[in-house]
Amino acid sequence: MSLPTLSFAVFLGVAVRLAACSVDKCASLGAQIPVPNSTILMYNYLLNGTTIDLPGTVESCGGPNLKANVTADLCRFVFTVTTSPSSEIQLEAWLPDSKTWNGRILATGNGGIGGCIDYATMQNGAGLGFASFGTNSGHNGSVGYEFFLDQPEVINDFGHRSIHVEAEVSKELAHQYYGARATKTYYAGCSTGGHQGFQNAHLHPKDFDGMLLGSPGIDWFRVVASKGIIARRIGWPHLNSSAYVRPEQWPAIVEAQIRELDSLDGVTDGIIDEPTKHRFNPESLVCGTDLLNSSLCLSPQQVESVRRAYEPIVSASGQIVYPAFELGSRTDVFSENQENGTAKLSYTIIEDFWRGAVFNNTYWTPENFNESDIDFAVSINPGRINTAEKDLSSFYHRGGKIITYHGRNDEAVTSALSEQFFTGVQATLNLTLQDMHSFYRLFFLPGMRHCSGGLGAWSIGNAQKYPYDKTLLDSTHNALIALVNWVENGTAPETIVGTKYENDLIGGNITAQRTYCSYPMVSRWDGIGDANLATSWECVL
Ligand SMILES: *[C@@H]1O[C@H](CO)[C@@H](O)[C@H](O)[C@H]1NC(C)=O
Ligand SMILES: *[C@@H]1O[C@H](CO)[C@@H](O)[C@H](O)[C@H]1NC(C)=O
Ligand SMILES: *[C@@H]1O[C@H](CO)[C@@H](O)[C@H](O)[C@H]1NC(C)=O
Ligand SMILES: *[C@@H]1O[C@H](CO)[C@@H](O)[C@H](O)[C@H]1NC(C)=O
Ligand SMILES: *[C@@H]1O[C@H](CO)[C@@H](O)[C@H](O)[C@H]1NC(C)=O
Ligand SMILES: *[C@@H]1O[C@H](CO)[C@@H](O)[C@H](O)[C@H]1NC(C)=O
Ligand SMILES: *[C@@H]1O[C@H](CO)[C@@H](O)[C@H](O)[C@H]1NC(C)=O
Ligand SMILES: *[C@@H]1O[C@H](CO)[C@@H](O)[C@H](O)[C@H]1NC(C)=O
Ligand SMILES: *[C@@H]1O[C@H](CO)[C@@H](O)[C@H](O)[C@H]1NC(C)=O
Repeated sequence: MSLPTLSFAVFLGVAVRLAACSVDKCASLGAQIPVPNSTILMYNYLLNGTTIDLPGTVESCGGPNLKANVTADLCRFVFTVTTSPSSEIQLEAWLPDSKTWNGRILATGNGGIGGCIDYATMQNGAGLGFASFGTNSGHNGSVGYEFFLDQPEVINDFGHRSIHVEAEVSKELAHQYYGARATKTYYAGCSTGGHQGFQNAHLHPKDFDGMLLGSPGIDWFRVVASKGIIARRIGWPHLNSSAYVRPEQWPAIVEAQIRELDSLDGVTDGIIDEPTKHRFNPESLVCGTDLLNSSLCLSPQQVESVRRAYEPIVSASGQIVYPAFELGSRTDVFSENQENGTAKLSYTIIEDFWRGAVFNNTYWTPENFNESDIDFAVSINPGRINTAEKDLSSFYHRGGKIITYHGRNDEAVTSALSEQFFTGVQATLNLTLQDMHSFYRLFFLPGMRHCSGGLGAWSIGNAQKYPYDKTLLDSTHNALIALVNWVENGTAPETIVGTKYENDLIGGNITAQRTYCSYPMVSRWDGIGDANLATSWECVL
């Protein structure tokens, strides 16, 4: 009896000493953070399994009652870095103890108009042993424009600077904290975070070895602007006009699309696998055809509005600048455009960004938005947010790797953009498909909405989605681990298996799995097996 007790005591003693060492290190670095131009706001040593309050968080980022799960014994630093005489970005570092650190860094991006730290991805990262970092991209809040008014440097932070600063700071801080340089540096982000990643790979190709880029809002201006153009095309803001398509009509329109197109991919599951391959004629929904009843059917003017809603965006000079919205997707951007009978877009980014960063005018509203407003924004390019992202040649030549994924039911950033961007990079770099696949792989997820959610088997270790399924932490089911396996073992991901859970509770009961393929290969049901099993899906060209 005495021996186990003794060794337990010894073991405990070692654990306590190790922890004490990390606590001391945390305090000593926290007291004097070794990052140029930085100010520490808070540091503390936290134990795995605890929950922390994040009381400084603004409302649009989920505050002030937002909490985070501590996913490892770790040292947390909250600090700011001055980026110009009139701007600073806030950063957080979550540094797991040396004994659990996997030797890697994981930096994260933002969503929407930025302004919120991506705790979800940081929690996942620290749980896997990454030294994990997050940033507010230079302002607090995902709604608002005041922070951009007359603040070109704050716009620069959001537009192109904060992720690069985060990369440099993360490397320096990890070095100081662990006494060793990180072996590899990764980035994971979704939506605006995907755009930030591609932009960073172009501007600062040495920052990251591997990048996981979800539902990327590449060409950020047009992604945002498309919402304004489409609103105008369906009659907005004239809610009483005969061309305006009313919110309650949209679910019926999408249902009709699914009814007509779902089965064409071989499986009737409510999912149109490849929406960009189809056309839909809204004429079938005109009043009198009996497809929709008198309260939902379309007038001839509304038929024209719906047709235009699914057409690409063309610049004032006649060039296609943004691909069409996807059939079968939720249509919040078409339908959430009034409040108490007054025209108002619930998608706030367009008003916030054009107000604060493009026009520097508190009173600007999008009711008259048109292609000229896009062209003007592109011409002044606030914060240099619009970059020649397609030129990824330096990132390619240095051996960087990108895994990107995009839901085919993305209601915020049409997935056609990812397809167009992939072929655009290929043309810009003049690469064969094999060369492309040696550094950049794109996976489409049919039935996934923006970044996560939807009818499809969408869970693949998505950025911005906490937690990970602890039973599927492998390179087949988790895209971040697949990325590490690619960067460090040289094993490129041929496929990724997505998982659907009962009630979308990650880690709960699995209801379906599906194999996804590296574009331009597509995933097809083999026509034999259970369509809810990953093994029943194969990659075809
Ligand atoms: C953001 O909020 C933090 C408190 O969480 C504050 O310290 C910081 O100054 C704010 N940053 C800006 C740019 O307002
Ligand atoms: C923004 O507008 C304010 C108020 O009209 C003006 O004072 C300021 O110079 C403008 N700043 C820029 C960068 O245009
Ligand atoms: C639109 O119609 C509603 C009900 O028919 C009416 O109350 C409202 O005043 C009209 N709005 C405009 C801007 O004409
Ligand atoms: C029209 O159809 C919708 C959806 O099926 C239903 O909710 C609504 O009550 C119907 N309206 C009429 C006037 O029949
Ligand atoms: C709509 O009504 C709610 C509740 O009365 C109010 O809080 C809100 O400001 C109104 N919105 C608009 C755009 O008038
Ligand atoms: C956009 O609207 C403005 C007026 O608000 C008009 O001067 C301009 O010609 C319009 N541009 C296009 C491309 O329709
Ligand atoms: C593109 O690559 C092909 C084959 O590698 C080569 O023959 C061709 O000249 C290149 N085109 C350009 C524009 O560089
Ligand atoms: C890299 O390869 C080793 C050896 O096969 C394996 O144990 C490890 O899990 C791989 N890494 C990843 C991230 O899959
Ligand atoms: C999983 O399924 C079982 C059996 O139907 C059920 O009791 C349990 O609550 C489910 N778990 C979750 C997380 O939904």
